This record gives sequence, C-alpha cells and structure tokens, in this order.
Amino acid sequence: MIKFDYSNMMAENIGEEHGVGKGVLDGMAERARRAHDGVVAKKESGKIGFLDLPYDDALVARIREEAGRVSSEFENFVVLGIGGSALGNIALRTALNHPFHNLLSREKRDGRPRIFVPDNIDPDRLNGLFDILDLKSTVFNVITKSGSTAETMSQFMIVRDRLMQELGRGEMPKHIIATTDVEKGALRKMAEEEGYVTFTIPANVGGRFSVLSSVGLLSAAVSGIDIGELLIGARNMNARCSSPNMADNPALAGAVLHYLSRTEKGKAMLVMMPYSHRLKDVADWFRQLWAESLGKKYSTGGAVVHTGQTPIKAVGATDQHSQIQLYVEGPNDKVVCFLAVEEYNSRVDIPPLSGEEDGLSYLEGKSLNELILAEMRATELTLVKNSRPNCTITMPRVDARSVGELLFMLELQTAYAGELYNIDAFDQPGVEEGKQFTYGLMGREGYEEKRAELDDLEKGRITYTV
Ligand code: PA5
Repeated sequence: MIKFDYSNMMAENIGEEHGVGKGVLDGMAERARRAHDGVVAKKESGKIGFLDLPYDDALVARIREEAGRVSSEFENFVVLGIGGSALGNIALRTALNHPFHNLLSREKRDGRPRIFVPDNIDPDRLNGLFDILDLKSTVFNVITKSGSTAETMSQFMIVRDRLMQELGRGEMPKHIIATTDVEKGALRKMAEEEGYVTFTIPANVGGRFSVLSSVGLLSAAVSGIDIGELLIGARNMNARCSSPNMADNPALAGAVLHYLSRTEKGKAMLVMMPYSHRLKDVADWFRQLWAESLGKKYSTGGAVVHTGQTPIKAVGATDQHSQIQLYVEGPNDKVVCFLAVEEYNSRVDIPPLSGEEDGLSYLEGKSLNELILAEMRATELTLVKNSRPNCTITMPRVDARSVGELLFMLELQTAYAGELYNIDAFDQPGVEEGKQFTYGLMGREGYEEKRAELDDLEKGRITYTV
C-alpha cells in the first residue's frame, strides 16, 4: 500500500515559518470534508468521469483483445497525441516496461511491438522516426479528444498520406487506430468514413485525467503491461479515498497540505522528485495534471484569483547534481515531494575492490540499491536541516498495481485541491486560447477574429532584440 509521509512539511520538524502547524492542519478538517464532498458531487452529477474509469471491465476486455491482434500483426506501435493524450502513455511505459524495451529482441519483448510516442511536432523528430519505421509493420494510434488539435492532426495527416503513398488507399485504414470523442471532431468523422478501428474518450474525462481510459490503456496493453493490475491499484486507492477524513485519505491529506503550504507559507512551487528512474515520466505527467488543473485566473464565483503552484520535475539521484543546490540554499519557496520505492525490481551489487582505490572502500559490499536510498535520505535530511518543506510518497515497488494506486491518488489530490482553491480543476481556458490563436495564425476558417486579435497584439508591441 502506498504511504504518504508529510512529517517534513510540519512546523514541529522544520519550524513555524515554513512548516504547517498541527493546529492549523486540524482546523482544516471541515474544509477537507467539503472538498471531498465537492468531488463526490461532481462525480455524481456526471461532471467528472475519471473516478469511474477503473471499473470498466468491458473496455479492459476489448483493449486486451485489440492488443493481442496488434501484437501479432505489427512490429511498431506509434502514439500520435500531445499533452493529456500522450503523457500518460509515456509515464506508464517508462514505469512498467523494460527500461530498454524498444532495443530488446522481439522474443525478449514477449512478441510485443516497439512503442514510440513522439509527443511533439518538431519536424526533425518526426522525420527521424520515419527513418527507423517500416510502415508495413507499423500501426499508428492517433489520440485526440477534441479531434482537432493542430499538432496531433497535422502529424496524423502526414502519416495517413505516407501510408497511402507507400501501402495504398486500401491498406491505409488497417494501420490506424483512432481514440477520440464518441461523436465530435474531425477525427471521428474521418474514422467513420475511412473505417479505422476506434476507441472512445468519455466526454467527461479531460485529457490530463485520461490515463486510465483507452487513451493510456491501449498502448500499455500492447507493450505488455498488465492493465487489469493497474486498475485494481486505482480501485484500491479509490476505496481508501472514500473517507472524508485526512487521516484516512492520503490524497485529501496531500491536497490540504500543499494548499496550506502554498497559501499560508508562500510555497509557489512543487518539485516532484522520484528516486526511481522508472517514475521520472510520472513526474512529467503530474506536471501537466497539477499545472493545468490548478493554474486558474478565475474562481468558480468569477473573482480574479490567479491560483496555482508551479510543478517542477527533478530526478533522484541525477538532479542532486543539478537542482538541489537551489532547493537547499536558494529561495525557500518550494515543497519537494519525493517518490520512493521500498524495493527496486532488481539489485546491483558493487563489486569487491582491490584495496588500492583511495576513499572508495565504503562502497565495497554495498549495492546501488543502498546507495540510491542513502542519497534520498541524505537529500531529505539536508532539506529538513535547512527548514525546507518536503514529503515522501512511498510505493512498495514499481509494479502495475502500485502505479495504478499512485496515479489515481495524484488525480484525486488534484481534484481535491481544485475544491480547496475554489476553482474549476477540469477546464483549461488558457490552453484553449493558445489553440485558437494557432488556428487563427494557420488560417483556419472561423478563427479570423482570433487572427485579428493577434495582429492587434503584434501591432501594439515594442520590440527589443540584440
Ligand atoms: O488536459 C488537456 O485537456 C490537454 O492537455 C489536452 O490533453 C491536450 O491539449 C490535447 O488535446 P486533445 O486530446 O483534444 O488533442
């Protein structure tokens, strides 16, 4: 079971100036209960659907079947998507596949395809991918909830055209799986007209909350991840989080503590720092979740509030050698959240030394496992010594069940935090505005006003360059 340890966020351990007082935390019990009830009410009214995702057994069966077909027919599986339509896929892959999955022989991959998620429209990146793919043995899973995102759809148009050029009009649809809204958007229309296999993203599940829907589950199942276990983990966490009491509900406790650190102690940033390289892309995924959900201009009542906490990714032990100096001695404006594992999936021992290596004998007989845990402990206590708030989420090990628990806990923590800030954690007007400006710039019909607005902004700007 996942454990959330917030001792080092508390005033008793890091002092009153930067730590949350026990009395203040206890005094939040009623607001925490209301935040919990608010999320439950949103679920019951159908506004949010992510809480239902772990229970869709029919979808799991269908995805398993499709993953089996894909694995037997293709060598490469490419996800075309961006933001919430890509980051969950990447997080699951990095956490649960062999660290060098794509470099293993097919046999060592248990017959599973290689998985690619380009997650960007940089022309060099996409061209580079085409250099290594044989289209005959490649299937593309295009994922976009809106069915119109410029990055995803432009990639898709390029891929579709290449498939037609190289394999012919008749073969092209067999190499495409579309994951999109049940009825809306250009992709759904094309899928129906051209006959792609399709999966549906529920209307009330936003991109950043969609990892446990067909968005994240298909590529996971294709790569060999046990999606059933993933969802059991999520269900277990959901059961734990059914309580409105912080003492029983780790996601609620996390939400309240981060909220207090932000609003009472000025901690404007939240650094997620996994000490398991497998979890490094969970930190990326979380960055989007926390940023897009909580970074809002307006409260639900319409007041200008400018809420949010900047999420940062750091990886232990790597970033001890790049970022920790700042976190220990720079502005005391962050909370560091460590992701820890009790047990790594393998053990690597440091070999006996010849006796001539100066100052290295302390490593003899130890393992990398002990070293990385010592590094985490040392970093944690250095932060404590310098009154820097930090917390630790510990997983027994990185397996499908624990990852399901972790992702679900972080989603719920974000939903509760939205209630505490009194904002809508499930919209993203800032992202939508950027999308609309892009459409305007690219000449999309219906976005002429957006284009004109941009032109006005450009005109009024004074330029400084060197
Ligand atoms: O979380 C979100 O809603 C966004 O980040 C979207 O996932 C992202 O913009 C991609 O949108 P779409 O899936 O519609 O292509």
